[in-house]
Amino acid sequence: MKVIQSLDQKRKKFKIAHFNESMKIRSVSLSDIPALTGLYLKIWEDEFTDPRELKKYFLKKVKNKEGFVAVEDNKLVGFIGFSKEYFRIVCSRKRSFKDSDYLDWVFVHKDYRGKGIAEELIKKFEKNAKKRRVRRIYSTTIPKNKAAIKMHKKLGFSQAGYVWNLWEEGDKELFFSKKVGGR
Ligand SMILES: CC(C)(COP(=O)(O)OP(=O)(O)OC[C@H]1O[C@@H](n2cnc3c(N)ncnc32)[C@H](O)[C@@H]1OP(=O)(O)O)[C@@H](O)C(=O)NCCC(=O)NCCS
Repeated sequence: MKVIQSLDQKRKKFKIAHFNESMKIRSVSLSDIPALTGLYLKIWEDEFTDPRELKKYFLKKVKNKEGFVAVEDNKLVGFIGFSKEYFRIVCSRKRSFKDSDYLDWVFVHKDYRGKGIAEELIKKFEKNAKKRRVRRIYSTTIPKNKAAIKMHKKLGFSQAGYVWNLWEEGDKELFFSKKVGGR
């Protein structure tokens, strides 16, 4: 047990040191769009995603200030995007959710995983949400994405149920929620 604890501490120290030295988290900007589109297509290479739609999405994130990127030595290695729009789709189009945000997605370059990048991106998003007086953030992931499920739980999200038919008929996604501000 002690050995595991000490390994965990060492890993934590490595993650922190790595961040202090070379990793930067900053707002997404227009000039990031080509690299982001490339990174996305590299990760989900089997998906039939239209690059034009992707570019539109990233452009919206820049315009609405709804995204952060992780950059190491000028190389873009991670992204987090958030919004209210998807949350309205998940729950109901009629209600207004001014005090809630939805985490669209977070993704990290394959060679840069396990270094705490997603964790830092989510923390940055939480801080930003808190500043905007958001009280609760929501997120979804598919049940087979074990890494994402563990990540949500580790970062204090609780599983709030399932969402069905979110993108396509028959889809089943886990629904997560985390309180970030307010009473
Ligand atoms: C899921 C993903 C974003 C994690 O990014 P990452 O930068 O490697 O994650 P971190 O290093 O910040 O890890 C944070 C926590 O997530 C969990 N985690 C991350 N990768 C994991 C893996 N492969 N297996 C199990 N748990 C994992 C761990 O609990 C980890 O904390 P710990 O290392 O202290 O135990 C990354 O694997 C990815 O881009 N996957 C493809 C896209 C995706 O599935 N996105 C999530 C759906 S929205």
